[in-house]
Amino acid sequence: MHSPKKLIAGNWKMNGTLESNSTLMRAVLEGDLRASICDVAVCVPSVYLSQIHSLIQSANLTTAHLGAQDVSAHEKGAYTGEISVSMLKDVGATYVIVGHSERRQFHHESDQLVAIKAERALKAGLIPIVCVGETQQERESGLTEVTVKRQLAAVIHLIGHCITEIVVAYEPVWAIGTGLTATPEQAQSVHAVLRAQLKAAAGEGAANIRILYGGSMNPSNAKSLLSQSDIDGGLIGGASLKATDFLSIIAAA
Ligand code: PGA
Repeated sequence: MHSPKKLIAGNWKMNGTLESNSTLMRAVLEGDLRASICDVAVCVPSVYLSQIHSLIQSANLTTAHLGAQDVSAHEKGAYTGEISVSMLKDVGATYVIVGHSERRQFHHESDQLVAIKAERALKAGLIPIVCVGETQQERESGLTEVTVKRQLAAVIHLIGHCITEIVVAYEPVWAIGTGLTATPEQAQSVHAVLRAQLKAAAGEGAANIRILYGGSMNPSNAKSLLSQSDIDGGLIGGASLKATDFLSIIAAA
């Protein structure tokens, strides 16, 4: 029986201003986080990492963490516009999302590139949140398992036994930002596949790897998703932009 501490991570995507971030983050931090038994993270646009880091620090909460939404696969140097793992560490990030489907889709990130980013993050002491998930077409063609296993296999192949240090997020692409959610049973069955794959790679340690569900999670479906045995938290897009919604998902965890 596994029971890792749950993680509720907000993915703000490309949203926010200094002013709206401050309002949102203060409201989240003033919520009942002290009573919360799960970890909470917000993955914010990189230009706002320092702003949110200061707000989290001043709240002095051990359960609240900062995350980034992507990172360069390169260590440093002549890569205009890119942001390195050491920069993310420098401004206080704990987590970094890698391989979000929007990066795979709009920036053509391959499984291999995502794996390199995950490895770089781990080596720098950041926790990568590795996203996997099938498109609608892949699901309809019966390719859900093959797809998520291929995506995760690339990461396992590169980082080996350190796989126990990552967070995995299962995000069916058809459920992201669409209002369509995988049913708790659909999500659980993919999570169980991923857990088995992690177990084959890491043995019993796989029981403690957090596998998050993401894709239109909201206050009304959070409880039923989060009560599935292999769902160890959520990666929340739209609903993380409203403090009351985000806080009620945290309360459901
Ligand atoms: P959503 O996004 O909650 O808005 O569907 C989730 C994500 O893309 O991480």
